[in-house]
Amino acid sequence: MPDTTLVDYSTKIPNNVDLASDDRVLKALEQWHPGYIDWWMAMGPDGFQSSDVYLRTAVSIDPKGWAKFDYVKMPEYRWGILLAPRDEERLVNFGAHKGEKAWQDVPGEYRAMLRRLIVIQGDTEPASVEQQRHLGKTAPSLYDMRNLFQVNVEEGRHLWAMVYLLHKYFGRDGREEADGLLQRRSGDADKPRMLGAFNEETPDWLSFFMFTFFTDRDGKMQLESLAQSGFDPMSRTCRFMLTEEAHHMFVGETGVGRAIERTCEAMKAAGIEDPFDLVRIRALGVIDLPTIQKKANLHYSLSLDLFGSEVSTNAANFFNAGLKGRFMETRIEDDHQLTSATYPVLKLVDGDIRTVEEPALTAINMRLRDDYTKDCQGGVSRWNRIIEKAGIKFQLTLPSVAFNRHIGEFKGIHATPDGKLLNDQQWAAMRDQWLPSKADGDFIASLMQPCWDRGKFASWISAPKVGIDQKAGDFEYVKIHRG
Ligand SMILES: [Fe+2]
Ligand SMILES: [Fe+2]
Repeated sequence: MPDTTLVDYSTKIPNNVDLASDDRVLKALEQWHPGYIDWWMAMGPDGFQSSDVYLRTAVSIDPKGWAKFDYVKMPEYRWGILLAPRDEERLVNFGAHKGEKAWQDVPGEYRAMLRRLIVIQGDTEPASVEQQRHLGKTAPSLYDMRNLFQVNVEEGRHLWAMVYLLHKYFGRDGREEADGLLQRRSGDADKPRMLGAFNEETPDWLSFFMFTFFTDRDGKMQLESLAQSGFDPMSRTCRFMLTEEAHHMFVGETGVGRAIERTCEAMKAAGIEDPFDLVRIRALGVIDLPTIQKKANLHYSLSLDLFGSEVSTNAANFFNAGLKGRFMETRIEDDHQLTSATYPVLKLVDGDIRTVEEPALTAINMRLRDDYTKDCQGGVSRWNRIIEKAGIKFQLTLPSVAFNRHIGEFKGIHATPDGKLLNDQQWAAMRDQWLPSKADGDFIASLMQPCWDRGKFASWISAPKVGIDQKAGDFEYVKIHRG
């Protein structure tokens, strides 16, 4: 066995899966590579392909040593195939096959299901790069610009991770799916990406931070449940992706946090106590807290849709088959087969939102979404501490799961952020109080002035507490060569 903690850079595609002795897959990936680079050049960060960016690249999957920092031009980033090390003892930990040895190959009966899971996950990765491709031009600092590009190259790597699984385990139809991942486009009416939130625009940097906080966190939850998979290569792939995903959520949480911090600081300096005094607050060149709340409402509700229907036989089948588990599956104390358990699900009953006990097996999506909400709440509470410390009377909250939904139990109704039902007219009258209006969008857009001087930050965001890779505040994270 080759040492799977080291990454082999001798092949064109860096990897720790011994591609050098797997001619078929190496060739398939080498054939896919030019199309990927074409996609990156056409759909990756617009205007910065020849800039030198201070990026981290994985050189080892050892938890302490996998990140190496250096200047790289993004099209030359070493996108590689990196899987967490194999545990020979690993078992299928849930579902009908619980207790069997984890599968190193795809069980024939689950082939179609597994391919579907991989393609859906894979499709989100390039989608977010496409959504974010214009943001470099309005970066509020070189530090933020670098973080954006780091997220982008890692989403590119996540695409590689899924494409590897398709090429390695699914033969011809895997190849076709891998090509399809380069053909769909975010927001394209004819060939859209597969999931709703990945066809929305990311028009400004507050959206980008909200996206990395809320939508990348959906990604984290999906990867967490796929990391439980009885199909071992899937599990190993997702476990390594999760180490990168953590950085994306750091970018989101600290990005929003720094916008909040800057707003509070400017309000205090100007002697403004009322967070709803929008005219005076906006005149300071910062984003008022009520608008930040609206953006959170939007991105949270769009991200909830990504969990699918609350009650789902697909989710039950994935679980039963041992392909997709629950968050922290092995730490849950139950039979891991859910033969008789129930789970509380919020549903619309006789025009009321009520909790109904459903078979836990079909409520898998609901449970993952609840775990997601808890995870989001942690970050929101940390944002609130920033506001509290500044002595401003305002609290950010997560809206009700019935608010602004397009999938599942609440898609056909309107509800307030507190979860009270509204008719169409009431909703139309109040919508702009709860979701970003055209005017809010125009205001935020007016603040999106590029700020590319070393160590400088745009008016609406404060400097980070520490630099990337311990670098000093004025470090030149991106050497911009336009083109
Ligand atoms: Fe990703
Ligand atoms: Fe991500």
